[in-house]
Amino acid sequence: MNPDAPLVHLNGTFLPRSEARVSVDDRGFVFGDGVYEVFRSVRGRMYAPDAHMDRLREGLATLRIRIPESIADGTLLEVARRLLSENGHDEGEATIYLQVTRGSAPRTHHFPDPDIPPTVYLSTSPFEPRHDLQDSGGACILHPDRRWARAHIKTVNLLPNILAKQAAHDADTFEAILVRDGMVLEGSSTNVFGVMDGVVRTYPAANYILRGVTRDRVLALARDRGVPCLEEGLAVEELAALDELFLTGTTTDVLPVSRVDGQVIGEGTPGPITRLLQDAFREDLYGRPDPEAD
Ligand code: PDD
Repeated sequence: MNPDAPLVHLNGTFLPRSEARVSVDDRGFVFGDGVYEVFRSVRGRMYAPDAHMDRLREGLATLRIRIPESIADGTLLEVARRLLSENGHDEGEATIYLQVTRGSAPRTHHFPDPDIPPTVYLSTSPFEPRHDLQDSGGACILHPDRRWARAHIKTVNLLPNILAKQAAHDADTFEAILVRDGMVLEGSSTNVFGVMDGVVRTYPAANYILRGVTRDRVLALARDRGVPCLEEGLAVEELAALDELFLTGTTTDVLPVSRVDGQVIGEGTPGPITRLLQDAFREDLYGRPDPEAD
């Protein structure tokens, strides 16, 4: 394939990215009326694809967007794999972006009547994990959570997340940790975990956070290894007493947090439980190292 002309998949058709067009009447463009997923792949193997598809279907159902057949039956995953291969993104690491909007119709706040077909868009990109920050830890800021109270739906309405992330970027830090009513919820595009006295804690998966695929996987890996976990929020005042703090996400993996608003967390270096879960997650993502390999 020509790396300068990757293919995308739009409404059932493979076509060069430069030729893909979405209508100006698309409700994704006009209202942000849609949902998305970001998947990770390693050498063409998608990580936890069913968990992402389940979350997408749930989001579509909650927003009453018609569920396209290829998403209902999961065949869109085959399209994603083909796209990775057509683009040569099945050789190394990649991300797959999938967006579904309510479709294209003259602007009305209520849903179009009669119903219209949703817009379905898939693309792939090469991906390089932040091994540097995964090794050393990253700094974060605290930021007020200004999102709506349905953050469990992965909508393309990301303005509060974008403004929070920009504030983190302006402060030369990696991530903004969102705070509501004095409680640590999650990052702008990550989930947040604290470790205190050997117990891992993260905010419960209800309406105020996105229930991350990586979050759930890391909780399962921790429990498998006998690490006690509580889905219980951390108060901002507890941060100073934490032994460890880390982030999880599809494009973040397990990333230790060294400082929050300049205040050092624990020893300021990645702690033992973070390292344990980082290794466990890497094994899950990349597969067990081949003992035959040199
Ligand atoms: N974001 N919380 C929020 C608000 C997110 O946007 C994300 C993912 C996560 C982590 O979820 P997961 O482990 O399923 O990736 C938590 C994606 C990567 C993004 O917007 O690019």
